[in-house]
Amino acid sequence: AIYAPERMNSAGMDLTDPLVIADLDMRITKALAQPADASAIVGGRDLGGDFRPVTNPADRSMTVGRVAEADTAAVDAALDAGIAAQPAWDAAGGAARADVLDAVAVRFEADQARAFGLLTREAGKTMGDALAEIREAVDFLRYYAARARADFSGPLVLPGPVGESNEIRLAGRGVFACISPWNFPLAIFTGQIAAALAAGNAVVAKPAEQTPLIAAWAVRHMLAAGVPAGVLALLPGDGARIGGRLVADARVAGIAFTGSTETARAINRGLAGRDGPIVPLIAETGGLNAMIVDSSALPEQVVADVLISAFGSAGQRCSALRLLCVQEDVAERIETMLAGAMAVLDVGDPMRLATDVGPVIDAEALAMLTDHVAALEAAGQPRIAAAPVAEATAAAGHFMAPVAYRIDSPDRLTREVFGPVLHVWRYKARDLDAVVRRINGFGYGLTMGVHSRIDQTIRRVAAVAKVGNLYVNRSMIGAVVGTQPFGGEGLSGTGPKAGGPRYLYRFATERVLSVNT
Ligand code: SER
Repeated sequence: AIYAPERMNSAGMDLTDPLVIADLDMRITKALAQPADASAIVGGRDLGGDFRPVTNPADRSMTVGRVAEADTAAVDAALDAGIAAQPAWDAAGGAARADVLDAVAVRFEADQARAFGLLTREAGKTMGDALAEIREAVDFLRYYAARARADFSGPLVLPGPVGESNEIRLAGRGVFACISPWNFPLAIFTGQIAAALAAGNAVVAKPAEQTPLIAAWAVRHMLAAGVPAGVLALLPGDGARIGGRLVADARVAGIAFTGSTETARAINRGLAGRDGPIVPLIAETGGLNAMIVDSSALPEQVVADVLISAFGSAGQRCSALRLLCVQEDVAERIETMLAGAMAVLDVGDPMRLATDVGPVIDAEALAMLTDHVAALEAAGQPRIAAAPVAEATAAAGHFMAPVAYRIDSPDRLTREVFGPVLHVWRYKARDLDAVVRRINGFGYGLTMGVHSRIDQTIRRVAAVAKVGNLYVNRSMIGAVVGTQPFGGEGLSGTGPKAGGPRYLYRFATERVLSVNT
């Protein structure tokens, strides 16, 4: 049987329809005319503070809005408010919480023009990426609402001896800290919060430093849709300072974190070293993701899927393709086609519909990528393709030209390179098993792609690949809520899978009631 809880994924909109575009443009312009700001939101109130400008990664001279960081008192107040408000939210039951999450989804869709504006300007998302992200956020809300209705609406009755009743139920744990990244500043931000809320927790949310404005937009809609004021707080600010405080505080009953493997380790250490209850960490971290292409693959399809997987979202997805392993018999042909396709990639202002690749998030990200490319050059690895970036574009913002290098060994990839840099490695057909072992050997386990029309090859790879999401003869990004539950293993995270049927359980505790009747 197909598992499909009662709900539909977001319909989105047709960005190829000129009428839709004209209407959206008008609404985005109107929405962006309103000022955007973010500060700590605690008890339903914006606390304000010392504001600094938030700038556009595609145009450093443009201020998108302003943000004031949460101070220590705000963190404290948010945790106290959450502890006070959580029991009633938990007691309200899964169905009541699901109604609120569904109401948030309706508000998100109704106000999506503003989300488009913020995602493109604050996070550098292309219009297509912004649409996909809004849809994913809405899908998370509705999916977890459906899961809450199914699993949090009453106990499961268990068998037992005559004269005794036994039942098990799920309950919220308390206050969850949700710490989210800038690369999906709406979808992942919303997904973590929606899951924690659906399971009956209060939430203190710490958005990425780079993207507080879209986070404040989301939180204001959540509160307006009926999430009680004490149940949800927003704490913008520095990761180490705010995140560090949350990890150390025994009032925090669980942490959902998406970001780097290094930070996940630091959180783990912090939780291990603190006093108070032992609590779960749900971590979704990086990937060193590979795609294997054999000589039976369709080259046109391979190139199209490589472009999306490696350069979509400017390569700033944890699922993105970093290492393309091509069987040597077809490598020349695929590399030539790839070079041709990359030469016509349109890199530029993310608000233009024609743009394929927007900016990377900030100067630090750009410096990391240029250093990595310089190291490949210094090691004599040949550059096989690059996309052009106009001088004026490069001067205005943090733009990294998509590039592809042929590398002599996967060992050239020593860490996750978070941006539009593709590494191509040629392998011999007889070495297929060794290739998969080598990829497993990275220790990450997020996504993998295979392009092959040989069933046996697909089955062989699938049997041994240690990854959370394996994609065959298609792109390897853009997991759809409820269809491709997403998340990895090993250095890529703890699970459970976001957008999957079991995600909420980790946010909850289980209680059993045994009564001698
Ligand atoms: N969930 C995203 C994807 O599948 C990555 O974070 O691409």
